[in-house]
Amino acid sequence: MKFTKIAVVLAGLAGLFLLSGMPDDAQALQEKGKSRPAATKYLMRGIVGPNCSGLGKLLKAGPADEKAWDTVACHAACLNELSFALMDDGRCPSGTWAKAATGALREGTVALLAAAEAKDADAAKAAFKTVTSSCGACHKAHKK
Ligand code: HEC
Repeated sequence: MKFTKIAVVLAGLAGLFLLSGMPDDAQALQEKGKSRPAATKYLMRGIVGPNCSGLGKLLKAGPADEKAWDTVACHAACLNELSFALMDDGRCPSGTWAKAATGALREGTVALLAAAEAKDADAAKAAFKTVTSSCGACHKAHKK
């Protein structure tokens, strides 16, 4: 009986610890990598955000000409490279992060590059949906 009570208290404490979040180390890893100076928020604000909204605008209207499709490919290429940068230098703190970066973000941008090459607007829109699903997946777990 006593033992059960202790077990319940310990389980409760473990739950509280998990709810209160990871210790500071993991927090630091989310803000930047181990040795390179770029903070994740600047990669987001400077690279991910602008390339994503550039794609949104172009694909909403439908890329009109060769130059517009080339810009779609340019945005997709930059986002694809970020899927690697987000995994480098000890920046990745969790499996959720890794799945968003190497799954939806990387695979979506590869599909988007193929769609831009083929100038296939429907495929590009579908690929862009995959790309943007990565944002919320990672933010839900790692953005304050
Ligand atoms: C693998 C994880 C991950 C993915 C994928 C991701 N983000 Fe983020 N993003 C973050 C983290 C972590 C922050 C918070 C950084 C901080 O405040 O230190 C953030 C913050 C941001 C910010 C705010 C930056 C600022 O100025 O403070 C923007 C904008 C943003 N992300 C856009 C996007 C978009 C758009 C996508 C999808 C195309 C995306 N992110 C995908 C991890 C991710």
